[in-house]
Amino acid sequence: MRRGFFLTFEGLDGSGKSTQLALLAAFLQQQGLPILVTRQPGDTTLGERIRALLLDAKTTGVAPMAEMAMMFADRAQSIEERIAPALAEGKVVLCDRFTDSTEAYQGGGRGLGSAAVLALHRVLCGDVQPEMTILLLPPLAISRARTSSRTAQAQAISAKGSVAADRFEQERLEFHERVRAAYHAIALREPERVLCIEGDPSIEEAQQRIQNAVLDRLRARGFLQSISADRT
Ligand code: TMP
Repeated sequence: MRRGFFLTFEGLDGSGKSTQLALLAAFLQQQGLPILVTRQPGDTTLGERIRALLLDAKTTGVAPMAEMAMMFADRAQSIEERIAPALAEGKVVLCDRFTDSTEAYQGGGRGLGSAAVLALHRVLCGDVQPEMTILLLPPLAISRARTSSRTAQAQAISAKGSVAADRFEQERLEFHERVRAAYHAIALREPERVLCIEGDPSIEEAQQRIQNAVLDRLRARGFLQSISADRT
């Protein structure tokens, strides 16, 4: 049995998940918990290369199946190199995106369906599953507006003004609507695992809900006790 605790953050681009992940990571560290913060795609040598290829708007004509396979290649590497060792060491692993992203973006957005994603997960990721997932699901208009203003800001500070939206951000509204619907379906299917934060709460309000829910879950797993025992 794994000693650590695997927690994932999910949501559309511009949903605020990375901000919330960073705040939670700082909070858990203050509690004295050993943590690993990681993200997908990326965070391994292979993964950063896969990320650059997949996000680059100049990578055109990618077959949806190839895109899904590359997401899983990144994930398999990340599990082997980063996630499984950290869990074996008893760490709390906070991962920015995991297989729910593939189910939402490739399964929903690209129309490949959930069954193919879940089958690949079984083959390539085995039993590595998040015990808890924080899903940030603001209205689409809000996440889209945040992504556009981020790209505009990046363009303004880039000398050549050449920063473009990435390959996923450039997708049409209908693509993002399908991604959002797929996320919603995952939350309905697995309410025990997924804490879904809808609407547009303030950063502080959302963080409070996340901290409370995560602490409850860590306590229920006996995690906080075992950490304080380890430290005494
Ligand atoms: P990020 O900017 O949040 O790190 O995400 C990178 C992009 O990759 C984001 O638009 C979502 C997309 N993505 C997928 O399409 N499928 C996946 O399995 C993952 C992990 C990310």
